[in-house]
Amino acid sequence: MDTIHIQGGRPLKGAIKIGGAKNAALPLMATSLLTAETLRLSNLPHLADISTMSHLLSEMGTTVSMEGNAPNGGHMGRVLALTSSDGVETTAPYDLVRKMRASVLVLGPLVARFGHARVSLPGGCAIGTRPVDLHLKALEAMGAEIELSEGYIEARAPNGLVGAHILFSNVTVGGTENILMAATLAKGETIIANAAREPEVSDLANCLVAMGAKIEGIGTDTLKVTGVKSLHGAEYAVVGDRIEMGSYAIAAAITDGDLLLEGARPDLMESVIDVLKKAGVEIIEEEKGLRVRGSGRLKGFDVMTEPFPGFPTDMQAQMMVLAAVAGGASMITESIFENRFMHVPELVRMGANINVHGSSAIVRGVDHLSGAQVMATDLRASVSLVLAGLVARGETVINRVYHLDRGYERLEEKLSACGAVIERVKG
Ligand code: EPZ
Repeated sequence: MDTIHIQGGRPLKGAIKIGGAKNAALPLMATSLLTAETLRLSNLPHLADISTMSHLLSEMGTTVSMEGNAPNGGHMGRVLALTSSDGVETTAPYDLVRKMRASVLVLGPLVARFGHARVSLPGGCAIGTRPVDLHLKALEAMGAEIELSEGYIEARAPNGLVGAHILFSNVTVGGTENILMAATLAKGETIIANAAREPEVSDLANCLVAMGAKIEGIGTDTLKVTGVKSLHGAEYAVVGDRIEMGSYAIAAAITDGDLLLEGARPDLMESVIDVLKKAGVEIIEEEKGLRVRGSGRLKGFDVMTEPFPGFPTDMQAQMMVLAAVAGGASMITESIFENRFMHVPELVRMGANINVHGSSAIVRGVDHLSGAQVMATDLRASVSLVLAGLVARGETVINRVYHLDRGYERLEEKLSACGAVIERVKG
């Protein structure tokens, strides 16, 4: 298995281009199941999860093709064309769904367009049990009959879905996305209350509107969808990745560096920028993006993860690395997932002083971290170890690199172009 080796202690200086958001791209790809016409998506990141979604869709019969030439071998500047004819299969098999939970996003579009879907239950994962009960309850409220058997969700709505008033008891990003897609083709009006307001949900809604859907309240917690008979093809550019941006912002901050994050959207990251500023990081909005500078004097902060516009859970592990090397104490509370502190023991092995009490971690800043052999069990935990490696003294070796490949495009290339000593060793 490949490993990533980092010699820490180099300040990062230069510019990093922020790619398209994985968590926006995945539901956008699933929307292609809502129409027989072609959906063209640009600014897709080149990531393992995107390939997994492409694979799932093409196994189901969607024609997936890449148009245009990619500079640097990535997907940037290329367009992914997806065409889901009327003959598409309505089964998403276990083999593919188990690789990536976001595969469950095909459920809403399939049952809305074809009146049937058979999708493997995604199961738990490293960061929590992550049920999909809210997705299923909402589809039932829209008239779908749902049965769970042999590890599969079997959803039927032979006469089509009907609009309903859905009130999510918890904010769910994937649940909002599944129901939003389903509602576009349902009969009548659907209200989605307590909807997730994440920018990736709004990106999906904007793409659906470009495909002919009628949606009001985009960006708010109440979405009103008036069903239409059919959707058409469209061209759509995926929104930039706010989590990639935040991760590199922390890389600049902790290494006392100076990075221009090109194409960054500070408007989508206010909560993270606020905390960074409180921690003493210098952040300047420039025409080309966001400039982030370490001030050499980081200080502790308290933060709790919350649904958007609150502080994102997908930035919690990275922020903990900043707290680990800041002066004073920080308290970091995880309120979204029940098991998202797996990076803690690894950071402690690198010399961090962190104590977990329930859903909160108390982090007391240390003078320095030390390189070590580490491994993590999910994407954001893995990138937090990369960040720790960048600031640590000595060499850090990160195992299970495949987690990083799911969500960070050309990570080593982007960081080494800014002065990091980082390389991937094939194993
Ligand atoms: C999305 O996951 C993201 N994934 C996650 O990104 C992100 O951490 C999460 O939203 C929260 O922001 C994608 O967009 C592909 P949820 P999702 O439904 O949709 C509970 C990353 O690192 N819940 O908002 O699966 C659930 O268990 C990842 O890129 C139910 O109880 O998250 C969790 O505690 C990981 N029942 C909370 O709600 C349900 O039916 C929020 O989950 C659905 C969710």
